[in-house]
Amino acid sequence: MTKAIVIGAGGGIGSALAAAIEARGTEVLRLSRHSDPPLDLEDDASIEAAAAAVADRAPFDLILIATGLLHGAGVSPEKSVSQINGAAFDRLFRVNATGPALVMRHFLPLLARDRRGVIAALSARVGSIGDNRLGGWVGYRSAKAALNQIVRTLAIELARTHPHTILVGLHPGTVDTGLSAPFQRNVAPDKLFSPQLAATRLLNVIDELVSADSGGCFDFAGERIAP
Ligand SMILES: NC(=O)c1ccc[n+]([C@@H]2O[C@H](COP(=O)([O-])OP(=O)(O)OC[C@H]3O[C@@H](n4cnc5c(N)ncnc54)[C@H](OP(=O)(O)O)[C@@H]3O)[C@@H](O)[C@H]2O)c1
Repeated sequence: MTKAIVIGAGGGIGSALAAAIEARGTEVLRLSRHSDPPLDLEDDASIEAAAAAVADRAPFDLILIATGLLHGAGVSPEKSVSQINGAAFDRLFRVNATGPALVMRHFLPLLARDRRGVIAALSARVGSIGDNRLGGWVGYRSAKAALNQIVRTLAIELARTHPHTILVGLHPGTVDTGLSAPFQRNVAPDKLFSPQLAATRLLNVIDELVSADSGGCFDFAGERIAP
């Protein structure tokens, strides 16, 4: 692997992934809302423009979408149906599903086509419909389920058009970042990963992916997550 792109490279897991990839001797292009060019998932034109701005550095072997939203201005995970809020839902879907779909659209042409190329989006186990026993967090959960369906759907098309391309969702585990910070109280210490450990595990999973895995969602141990 010679060249990678990390989108969301300023985030807890994204920055650890970028550092871990670089430590393997792979060149990393870091993109975020604060990079040059900037990439904002809530702005279609910035996604397209960022892809165009880095196209002369293609082909890339790995594109990681390490962005995501769980809480923030006007957004907090719902505990009950009465907390469902349209604007918050829209943002959760925009950042966790629509934005990554647009990234796939505009960045896929930058991936190597004549050899193995991987594009992976950080998803979450809570996006699994089959695994959902707890309820709650309906907006985030549904947006990650949508992301997993986007991955599955595009992978079917890519298997025909880009047979060497592997498109997957990845669950990093519960990782000590700003995203999980308000929800760590009930997490056992050995179940809360450092971003560095999560990055190492995720890269190990990516190393082992084969074409038949495309369209799936995998956890940090390489286990397939139920759709
Ligand atoms: N941490 C966990 O326990 C955990 C568990 C399961 C899944 N995940 C998933 O892992 C991924 C990374 O999460 P994290 O823990 O590293 O969270 P984080 O530290 O909050 O990072 C999230 C990243 O998303 C970026 N982002 C948010 N909105 C954006 C937008 N509109 N345009 C561009 N970038 C945007 C942020 O960019 P800025 O730097 O510009 O703010 C930040 O880099 C997410 O998809 C999350 O759902 C995390």
